[in-house]
Amino acid sequence: MKSMTSKELRQLYLDFFVSKGHSIIPSASLIPENDPTVLFTTAGMHPLVPYLMGEKHPEGKRLVDVQKCVRTGDIDEVGDSSHCTFFEMLGNWSLGDYFKKESIAYSWEFLTSRDWLGIDPSLLFFTCFEGDANAPRDTVAHDCWVSQGVDPSHITYLPKKNNWWGPAGMTGPCGPDTEIFYDTGKAPCRPDCKAGCDCGKYLEIWNNVFMEYNKTAEGKFEPLAQKNVDTGMGLDRTVATLQGVKSVYDTDAFSGIIAQIAGLSGKQYGGSEEITRMFRIIADHIRCATFMLGDQRGITPSNVDQGYILRRLIRRAIRFAMQLGIPDGSLSKISEAVIAQYGDFYRELKENREKILDELAKEEQRFEHALKKGIREFERLVSSLDGFVIDGVSAFHLYDTFGFPIELTQELAAERGLKVDLPGFEGAFKAHQELSHTGAEQRFQGGLADHTEETARLHTATHLLQAGLRKVLSSDDVAQKGSNITAERLRFDFSFPRKVTPEELSEVEAFVNEAISRDIDITCEEMTVDEAKQSGAIGLFESKYGSKVKVYTVPGFSKEICGGPHASRTGELGRFEIKKEEASSSGVRRIKAVLIHE
Ligand code: ALA
Repeated sequence: MKSMTSKELRQLYLDFFVSKGHSIIPSASLIPENDPTVLFTTAGMHPLVPYLMGEKHPEGKRLVDVQKCVRTGDIDEVGDSSHCTFFEMLGNWSLGDYFKKESIAYSWEFLTSRDWLGIDPSLLFFTCFEGDANAPRDTVAHDCWVSQGVDPSHITYLPKKNNWWGPAGMTGPCGPDTEIFYDTGKAPCRPDCKAGCDCGKYLEIWNNVFMEYNKTAEGKFEPLAQKNVDTGMGLDRTVATLQGVKSVYDTDAFSGIIAQIAGLSGKQYGGSEEITRMFRIIADHIRCATFMLGDQRGITPSNVDQGYILRRLIRRAIRFAMQLGIPDGSLSKISEAVIAQYGDFYRELKENREKILDELAKEEQRFEHALKKGIREFERLVSSLDGFVIDGVSAFHLYDTFGFPIELTQELAAERGLKVDLPGFEGAFKAHQELSHTGAEQRFQGGLADHTEETARLHTATHLLQAGLRKVLSSDDVAQKGSNITAERLRFDFSFPRKVTPEELSEVEAFVNEAISRDIDITCEEMTVDEAKQSGAIGLFESKYGSKVKVYTVPGFSKEICGGPHASRTGELGRFEIKKEEASSSGVRRIKAVLIHE
């Protein structure tokens, strides 16, 4: 097996497939175009979906690329040896050209030939799709491996859960896959431990998907007009294998970044398990943030969508940097190491260098501000505390709203002779995770970016706005079509056939401000859907709410089925002001509004 740097492997992969008649296509943006179902490109196939469905690609039927990808669903796992939020996926594509036989032959040659990677075949293991009601057992893929000389005992058939691939959105091109694993030499976890087992003995390095079906919205598998091949090889993982290191963080791709963190913190990578984890989290998150900020369709930190994920990564990195003793304002130095490693291949990082460094510095300052506010909240909490224990829900509130690591809360508590209810915190954390476990790449549900006090106030203002629109426009047809609320503003889409006049908008504003000036208590009751309907509440009467729903009421003004959270009194809201009214789509209007606190 040849040892090589990550730059060398990237180039070798491209060269190999060019020698097999493939055209190189550039990495698409990390931010998908025209795909509202995902926030980031999570696999190489994403930008190629139209071509997998049959559209002609200008570069032909055989393509090869290195695609920038982001997956943040496993963000809590980052810090172990293999999870990263950002990664590069090497991929070769057949758009209705070659299929299983050639795909498997190419993979075999690239992996095992001395001219290419030269991996010992006895260390390679394979899985194939075992078949189900929708698609047959993939004996073709199995036999293709055998005809390359693979010992059948190295091949395992596994169910759809393991050996089927489709895009994150669930509908679209998909099919059975065959996965290639490298035996790390670790002892088997049990006698029948084999490829596909996640104990760490077998490391997946490449996945060849045979996309011959289209999964429809009804869950049917229709044959695609053309049979495609979509493969994905994780660059970092394969480099780790070739370099004989246990972790992707120990490869040359990370060495400059890790050295920078060591220099800034004065700590030694590998010093202890905890320190190693912190190094890895910072390295991963800043690498990912650098790519997001420097992307051709670059984003900036915010409270919604992609910007929120970016903010979360940067703030998480700052927290660990603080714990590691890295001085404030150092993130840009770590990011420079990322640009040095990747800027030759990803020119956009060099071109956007200033923007990347500037945005990181700004976010660091903002987070410092949030931390100060959090300390004030902590003091308030302590002064109203009965006893010596800070409850788990309050500790979670500090974590979720102010970005306080639990360790920081514990430290502050210890200085005052107090304790934190850690199991309570973990319980609150878990409950939150379960609520939001739709996958971080998916869009925010319910239209709320976060659960801060200001967002809750704007949420209450949104209810009042809807009630005001219904009253002023004397129309029950005014129905919510969507909302998107951050701590800075609200956006509300509703059905209405024409432009709302300035006079009508002023009346709506006056309605909302009247409710605010009366400083009314907002109530929340649980009731059945039928009771809610009878009480005159508006909102979605869908069964997904379960048998009981919450109804939030601003007596005399608004009554709506809703999951919350809301302000507790209208007086907290400040002054309501509509900033903009415009068409959103046919028959749907959009209002943007803010709350002003004088
Ligand atoms: N699209 C396949 C994957 O992401 C190759 O694993």
